[in-house]
Amino acid sequence: MTTHEAPQRSITPRASLAATESLRHSRISGVGGYRPERVVMNAELVDAIDSSDEWIRERSGIISRRRAAPDESVIDMSEIAARQAIEEAGLTPDQIGLVIVATVTHPFQTPGAAPEVASRLGLTAPAFDISAACAGYCHGVAVASDLVRTGTAEHALVVGVEKLSDFTDPTDRSSAFIFGDGAGAAVISPSETPGIGPTVWGSDGTMRDAITQRESWLTLRDGSTDWPAIGMQGPTVFRWAVWSMAKVAQQALDAAGITADQLDAFIPHQANMRIIDAMIKALHLPADIPVARDIAETANTSAASIPLATERMLREGEAPHGGLALQIGFGAGLVYAAQVVVLP
Ligand code: UT7
Repeated sequence: MTTHEAPQRSITPRASLAATESLRHSRISGVGGYRPERVVMNAELVDAIDSSDEWIRERSGIISRRRAAPDESVIDMSEIAARQAIEEAGLTPDQIGLVIVATVTHPFQTPGAAPEVASRLGLTAPAFDISAACAGYCHGVAVASDLVRTGTAEHALVVGVEKLSDFTDPTDRSSAFIFGDGAGAAVISPSETPGIGPTVWGSDGTMRDAITQRESWLTLRDGSTDWPAIGMQGPTVFRWAVWSMAKVAQQALDAAGITADQLDAFIPHQANMRIIDAMIKALHLPADIPVARDIAETANTSAASIPLATERMLREGEAPHGGLALQIGFGAGLVYAAQVVVLP
């Protein structure tokens, strides 16, 4: 070897790795949801933000939301939704080989919520959190689906959970009425046929200020800020959601090889009823296709909103088991993810 030659970096390994199983298909095999008991009507919130029931209904479509009890944690809510999803999938908790929890309101920087949720289910399976705000559940479905497809996991649990009441400033006009608490869960399992279409996802970190915890934990430590609640530039997020997310939804349909009129349900993140209506229009969604409108009674539960809406539509017979649903999550980051799924 002359001094001008690049050093040899590769050798022939002494053994070759065992071949992984070839790709298989995945599907959602069960969903579950948990809504805290306490119902909070708009009237309870309006005085602190100089608003009215009428304004909130008209501008957001929200009539009420659920609030978790003070001692009810994201772990408690996750466990209930998870157990229901596992039962709906016809499985027992010991068959779950991966736990993913999507949340932005677990009040510990570390450890994540997922290992604790796994432990509640009696599991020592791999478990980690996803911080992708209102798109967290769709990110979780994407990751879990690929891990099931490659054989890394057999059955995976994806939970979307939020206790946003702990991170909301009750005097903030742009967010105090928007958020709710709850948990939704899905089990992702191997499938004979394709059950989860390709995910269309992305981010725009230049828009980080559009929805954000107002201050970092460090300013709280230094005593220079109050509790750093989540703040939102409502109209900025609204415009982004209406203009950009309908295109992403269409791309998810294209990637799945179907058209809007072949859907059996449209289940967008429950951010604002007017955003949902604008998306329906942009997608030219036929009027007879059921659309999730859980926001009216559940408000915006961030990572929990899509699985909660899915669970409700199936339970109330609004969406058919086995039907095709387009789901799209978008929120703080800004981040987004969308995919077409076969409903369990
Ligand atoms: O989940 C993550 C993603 N999040 C979202 O997608 C949320 C997107 N944004 C929204 O849903 C909407 O922007 C809100 C519902 C938050 C706000 O509705 P908006 O129609 O965008 O209201 P705005 O901020 O443009 O304000 C319109 C008017 C203003 O009054 P003037 O200037 O027209 O006289 C505001 O001062 O409404 C007033 N206003 C309110 N009035 C009563 C703003 N907030 C309130 C309020 N109650 N809470």
